[in-house]
Amino acid sequence: MRIYISEASRHAGEEVQIAGWLYNKRSSGKLRFLIIRDGTSLMQATVSQSDVPEALWQVADELTQESSLTLTGVVREESRAPGGYELQVRSLELVGRAVDYPITPKEHGPEFLLDRRHLWVRSKLQHAILRVRAETVRAIRDYLDSRGFIMFDAPMFTPNAVEGTTTLFPVEYFGSKAYLTQSGQLYQEAGAMAFGKVYCFGPTFRAEKSKTRKHLTEFWMVEPEVAWLDLDGDMDLMEDFVVEVVGRVVEQRREELKVLERDVALLERIRKPFPRITYDEAAERLKGKAEFKYGDDFGAPDEEALAEQFDRPIMIHRWPHEIKAFYMKRDPADPAKALGVDMIAPEGHGEIVGGGQREDSLEELEKRISEHGLPKQYFEWYLDLRRYGTVPHAGFGLGLERTVAWICGVKHVREAIPFPRMMHRLEP
Ligand code: 4AD
Ligand code: MG
Repeated sequence: MRIYISEASRHAGEEVQIAGWLYNKRSSGKLRFLIIRDGTSLMQATVSQSDVPEALWQVADELTQESSLTLTGVVREESRAPGGYELQVRSLELVGRAVDYPITPKEHGPEFLLDRRHLWVRSKLQHAILRVRAETVRAIRDYLDSRGFIMFDAPMFTPNAVEGTTTLFPVEYFGSKAYLTQSGQLYQEAGAMAFGKVYCFGPTFRAEKSKTRKHLTEFWMVEPEVAWLDLDGDMDLMEDFVVEVVGRVVEQRREELKVLERDVALLERIRKPFPRITYDEAAERLKGKAEFKYGDDFGAPDEEALAEQFDRPIMIHRWPHEIKAFYMKRDPADPAKALGVDMIAPEGHGEIVGGGQREDSLEELEKRISEHGLPKQYFEWYLDLRRYGTVPHAGFGLGLERTVAWICGVKHVREAIPFPRMMHRLEP
């Protein structure tokens, strides 16, 4: 019977078949210890020269790293083997011989590995990170689906900017120009007016010329949007969401986080409430730090300086409106401020969430569109949402790769997505 390695413990004493790839090999006299991976886990398969025909022994002896094979044998409990079980091999068939697999157990530089990303994803750490990513996606969907949010997909081709005109990727669209979307938010606002609570979750694109460890040109974002919600309610939602998602991933992916040597205690203390500080308070806390100037957005060193004053994510709200997007509602108590909020992750992982309350007044929004020099004709549909039954509403966008990098404790977001797209990388 063919089984997956992850099921081996349920088949102790039975003869089974596994199909996989050679991860590693050790020799000891008349024994060959083959470490097999099949995607679900690793398992030691032991070949004993005295138990198998000579031809099979030869095949086992000459197996090369990442060759594909099927093996039949009996599952035995073996405390010294990884996972606690091993396969005592009776027969073995080589399916695809790998010659000179380029990623060897020695150290390789990041560019070498990124050029071979299609193979690198087989390696232990990358495999663990991508499993954490998959679990994070599942946790996000389960959170929203179980709380009455309707999945409402946003288009990828758009005629206009959402976050600002400087970071758009233009594409040729039947003789005219379209852009790859920076955010599904505006479409979620239409969805919120139709369904109350919606979300989209997909790739978004930013032509940012930033070569930092936190920037991708294509990244995934989940964007919930809720009608009849204000900024405080939005902060309640994003806080609860992050606590639940991180909690679920820590619970479900302990093994992977162990492989990554992640200090899980740091994630286990991610509980409510998260500190909520205004931009002005944050600026006060940064006084004397060289980089920061009041009125500017926070740079990475500013975010880090703020984050290290707390043991959990912080929410910074009420930003100078000049540095925020056109759609943000002005604070009625202080019109110099926009009702936006950013969530900054601990340990230097930076901003993971951006969101806020949206401008719901038709006149104010028309003013913003012209102040920002945006082409009004493309926003007529968006203005309709204010013409026909406008209500207070709010939402946010959480960047998947930054969140996964934080959960995994890896520095660079490029490892948190199967095939990263960056300013200088479009391949493989
Ligand atoms: O703060 P941003 O730009 O917010 C928006 O796009 C809003 N329209 C979302 C909304 O309210 N529905 O982006 C949201 C998050 C950031 O906090 C960050 O986690 C991630 O998206 N992000 C990036 N991740 C990787 N690479 C980039 N270049 C990113 N830019 C933003
Ligand atoms: Mg932002």
